[in-house]
Amino acid sequence: MLLLALLVTLLLHTTNAVDQTKFRTCTQTGFCRRHRNKVPSNTYTAALTSSSPDAPYKFLLHPSKGYTSTHPNLSLTVDPLSNGAVRVRVQENNPETSRWESSDILLPAGLSRCASTTHTSDSSSVTISSTCSSSDPPTNTVISLSPFKITVKQGDETLMSINESQLFHFEHKRDKGGVQAATAEPSDTKADHHNGKKIVGYWEDGLARYEDGTTEVKPVEDASSIPKEDEDGFWEEKFQSHHDTKPNGPMSFGVDITFPQKSTRLYGIPEHASSLALHATRPPPSGSASSQAPKYKDPYRLYNLDVFEYDLDVPMSLYGSIPLLISHSVDTGRVSGAFFNNPSEMFIDIWSGEGMGSHWMVETGVMEIFLLVGGSEVSEVYKQYSSLTGTQALPPMFSLGYHQCRWNYKDEKDVYAVHKKFEEHDYPYDVLWLDIEHTDGKRYFTWDKRFFPNPVKMQQTLWEQGRRMVTIVDPHIKRDNNYYVHKEATAKSLYIKNADGKSDFNGWCWPGDSSYLDFTEEKVRKWWAEQFKLDKYVGSTPHLHIWNDMNEMSVFNGPEVTMQKTTTNLQGVEHREWHNIYGMLFQRATSEGLVLRSGGKERPFVLSRSFYAGSQRWGAIWTGDNAARWDHLAVAGPMLLTINTAGLSFIGADVGGFFGNADSQLMVRWMQSGAYQPFFRGHAHHDSARREPWLFGDEALQMLRQSSMERYALLPFWYTIFHTSSITGMPVMRPLWMEYPTDPNCPALDHQWLIGSDLLVCPVVQENAVKVNCYFPGTNQNWYNVRTMQVQPVPASKWVNLDAPLDTIPVFQRSGSIVPKKLRLRRSTEMMRNDPYTLVVAGESATGELYIDDGHSYDFENGEYAKRRFDYVGGKLTNTKLSGNWGANGTCKDWIERIIFMGVSSKPSSVVTSAGQSLEFTYDKNTLVVRKPELGVVDEWTLEIL
Ligand code: GLC
Repeated sequence: MLLLALLVTLLLHTTNAVDQTKFRTCTQTGFCRRHRNKVPSNTYTAALTSSSPDAPYKFLLHPSKGYTSTHPNLSLTVDPLSNGAVRVRVQENNPETSRWESSDILLPAGLSRCASTTHTSDSSSVTISSTCSSSDPPTNTVISLSPFKITVKQGDETLMSINESQLFHFEHKRDKGGVQAATAEPSDTKADHHNGKKIVGYWEDGLARYEDGTTEVKPVEDASSIPKEDEDGFWEEKFQSHHDTKPNGPMSFGVDITFPQKSTRLYGIPEHASSLALHATRPPPSGSASSQAPKYKDPYRLYNLDVFEYDLDVPMSLYGSIPLLISHSVDTGRVSGAFFNNPSEMFIDIWSGEGMGSHWMVETGVMEIFLLVGGSEVSEVYKQYSSLTGTQALPPMFSLGYHQCRWNYKDEKDVYAVHKKFEEHDYPYDVLWLDIEHTDGKRYFTWDKRFFPNPVKMQQTLWEQGRRMVTIVDPHIKRDNNYYVHKEATAKSLYIKNADGKSDFNGWCWPGDSSYLDFTEEKVRKWWAEQFKLDKYVGSTPHLHIWNDMNEMSVFNGPEVTMQKTTTNLQGVEHREWHNIYGMLFQRATSEGLVLRSGGKERPFVLSRSFYAGSQRWGAIWTGDNAARWDHLAVAGPMLLTINTAGLSFIGADVGGFFGNADSQLMVRWMQSGAYQPFFRGHAHHDSARREPWLFGDEALQMLRQSSMERYALLPFWYTIFHTSSITGMPVMRPLWMEYPTDPNCPALDHQWLIGSDLLVCPVVQENAVKVNCYFPGTNQNWYNVRTMQVQPVPASKWVNLDAPLDTIPVFQRSGSIVPKKLRLRRSTEMMRNDPYTLVVAGESATGELYIDDGHSYDFENGEYAKRRFDYVGGKLTNTKLSGNWGANGTCKDWIERIIFMGVSSKPSSVVTSAGQSLEFTYDKNTLVVRKPELGVVDEWTLEIL
């Protein structure tokens, strides 16, 4: 008995952290090892070969003198785009060896070339000058010829460079056998020594590495004299029991992208369970001193993986990847970036010396980098990035409400009971979720009839009370010949193949033996989309939405819990090439399926775990299997900020934490925080104790409910910001530096955030804390406490240790803003549809926007929406139209029931409308509340405070 107890304790403890040995480090990865060891050296020389106005500038990259003659020329193109970014591509010059690339990532419109481009050249460089960035002066892209490097400047300001640190190294595509040929130059015949120094290895392009860490050109006579280490990981690699046969050999490349002196911090490249500001992972390659000591030993890794019980504060990869790096300078306020468009595995080293630097080490594919020049506003960089990969899709309104999930709601009775309790407690929620157990043996699109005999009725019952449901549909398909999805997919040959390119891959996932649909193939995506039609997905209704999980893809018995890199898609392209976009293409196909189901009318809602650059176009993302622990609550903010900084806004973390048990205090703090994060869903593992809000006692229930109510009250505000994001690409949840780029205290702040530009959120993420230290950014900027409606006194340091008892999350509204709300308590977004608005005006002069549409269809694309602007100045509040035809025919009945003015210094004598009507009001503690103005949202009007 004692032994058993001990065993259980041991098990509980050992299952609390990831088994790191299951996942490769840089040193365990051939290409990363080879690139990371590279000593800076001049490997290539550039020559301009074509400068036609109708095509990108073309250069030939020649291996520098002394490199092996086998190293082929490369082609470099440089192309200033009309969006202001500069596109740079490198690959083999020989078209016969062209590398695979996906046509599903970039938006064609984003690639249009800048029309006003000229160039000058001299013996050492070519300067391409373009005037497509919205800020003056022109962007100058300087290509230095020898050694080859690219520098982007605007005026005197150098923004970023490629190969400034001379880490560029390119492993050309080759046939096995002809790897290391002799060079033309004479050499020392003793293979392991040269000039008396011991050689410890070679670069495949002929550079010798010496024991003392130096390197130089060391031509060799024949391949046989090269030490084995030279081919280290070229043609095969082993990791644990897995063997990567690498039939195409080495095709990796590496290059540095640096941001000069003025760069303060780098951000982006999610997904990692780490801070917002990236940590240094190595010293500067130049040998100069680090300005921030390296914190991580390994580079940040991007390789989508299902990491069981992930660790915090590590650069290990997680479920999604966005190869976008953002640099920010506090000196100039300038924000620029680099998008490295490549879906294969990569590692990224970061250093901080004079400015910031990064070394990208990529397994295969084309080297394609978009240098995002940015402009005078932070938003410029997001305009450029989103023109390439898309903006955040406008979510249907309901999906911004609260979602209740658990693995699993057991049966229909359970569903009805949970739903009923929410009703009883007047607790706002919109969606109830069903995890994998609702299916018949993990056959997606089916129902376990024992527990869900009447799924249509169940969905309809919830819908009658304004609630929707979500079911899970994963990409692995049970290999069961009686399962219609498998039968059809097999017959039509839609599955990913083994390395032989013929037989269907078979791996383990939830259903046991499974095959995986090839979502890189358009015909597969189309076929998949059809599966969501109401007559195909039996038991579904138009109010059912979808959750896509395990799409990294997760293969329980595969290397690092994913698929062997040698499997192939239907075009015969190795999985190695497209790994990181699989998850996004799966979510896309599902999302297209839901649109198809509605005849193109309804906006879909699809949640996905895996993601890539562009996933923002297809739905929401969550940060996977976190834990019911305070440190996981604390890391959620920084993780979500990082993902927002990388252009993907609709993101959340499992509220309460997935693994383990949340006590009432953790639950309350998490719900408070989650209510102010873009995607808001409670979820838990099947072994976690039930945690519906009423299970924590009455006091906690009231606090949890309060969080949900705060969320619902702000939905008009969230929706308006999401709409802006869908137009501009600007993140919804913003780090403080994004709005206050020259404030030296903001760059590393990630325990607090802004929603849009107007709400400052300072959550409590520490156990038993009843105070939280919050920074109030901005010069002469007041912040109003949203509960007390009073200005928060702020000392010169701008740090305040705020009171935050358990029932309070400190949130502040920026003076100068107008925030639209809906304050009637309802139980779902559907029931709030016709509710009147409240405007909250902060300070003596303020502006704000409100976006409205039907909340669910695509009619807004035809002008069926209203975007209004409110201005408050000199005691007058006006409502003007920004765009949209909503209500043009008099059908819009939306109205304003209350206007709250915070910071009014004295009691007014009257408040009158432009029609001369005098309005009722109350005044207390600098807060004026105008009641029942009954003004139309889409009408032009002025209200005056006298
Ligand atoms: C994965 C998901 C988790 C889900 C479970 C069962 O672990 O991340 O959210 O509940 O699979 O489907």
